[in-house]
Amino acid sequence: MTGSGIPTRTLGRTGLEVTVLGYGAMSLDSRFGRTIEPAQANEVLNAVLDAGINFIDTSPDYGPSEEMIGQSIANRRDEYFLATKCGCPVAVEQGHVYTRENIEAAVEQSLRRMRTDHLDLVQFHGSPSREALEEHDAIGALVDLKQQGKVRFLGMSGTLPNLADHIGMGVFDEFQIPYSAVQREHEDLISAAARAGAGTVIRGGVARGAPSPEKYWDVRRLPEVPPERPREIWEGADLDDLLDGANPMEFTLRFTLSHPDLHTTIVGTASTDHLRENLEAARKGPLPDDVYQEARRRLEAAGSG
Ligand SMILES: NC(=O)c1ccc[n+]([C@@H]2O[C@H](COP(=O)([O-])OP(=O)(O)OC[C@H]3O[C@@H](n4cnc5c(N)ncnc54)[C@H](OP(=O)(O)O)[C@@H]3O)[C@@H](O)[C@H]2O)c1
Repeated sequence: MTGSGIPTRTLGRTGLEVTVLGYGAMSLDSRFGRTIEPAQANEVLNAVLDAGINFIDTSPDYGPSEEMIGQSIANRRDEYFLATKCGCPVAVEQGHVYTRENIEAAVEQSLRRMRTDHLDLVQFHGSPSREALEEHDAIGALVDLKQQGKVRFLGMSGTLPNLADHIGMGVFDEFQIPYSAVQREHEDLISAAARAGAGTVIRGGVARGAPSPEKYWDVRRLPEVPPERPREIWEGADLDDLLDGANPMEFTLRFTLSHPDLHTTIVGTASTDHLRENLEAARKGPLPDDVYQEARRRLEAAGSG
């Protein structure tokens, strides 16, 4: 538990003590038809740290996100663990490419943009196959950067169909995996990753805000899920009597936090009001076990998982 009341968990074999609520800095990108000004990014990022959140995830792919982190909170670098990605287009024009040159260029760029001398975690972006990783010794490239002290731990942003293979490779300290009440296809693999000793970082933990009254399902969509499915699953599961006074967003976040093998969930937001709501939900912690199990049963019957 941090002084701010957010529980912490050990991120697998990295040994990092991370707050169960982390921060996803993709929300600082302007990809959702809105522009986040530097002043707003500065306010949100400092509010994240003021609240005691100590784990931030970003990527070279998220527009100005890395630069905003550098501009706003590089002076507070000892208050957070910093995770970013590699394989994204840096030394190449487009597409995800897992060559030594592209991986080194990404890490150097991230260090520069975020005004730091080390990245706590660098994750392969895009869930590449084992063959794609081995083709240019991508793991070796990251291990060399680790030996140079620029990278502390190796991670994988992994999804089906490659995730089980990634876990079996035994080289990753951490996996970033999507999971929420309406996106449960990786539920067992999260546990498999933790059993293998790796840290688990959950993304999509509030289903992109889709269950909130203001977003009302059709505004935000989850990347791996057909657009109409989350709402169908939620309504089909008929969870209202399980909410116990919570609004659907609070319930969704606490459902995610109830996964027994989650170490942190990197919820994204560009809103300090939403951040406050999410902090309140995280402080309440996981759902009571009987509620979590009953919700899982109903969600499964509605086609999730
Ligand atoms: N392949 C990958 O590696 C990959 C892919 C996707 C994401 N990620 C990482 O995971 C992080 C989270 O993923 P995500 O953004 O897909 O999913 P998410 O955290 O479930 O959803 C974030 C979205 O939910 C909205 N939201 C948050 N709290 C809310 C609240 N209390 N009420 C209403 N809306 C709320 C935010 O909008 P507002 O700004 O309006 O609050 C934000 O756009 C990203 O930031 C990124 O770091 C990685």
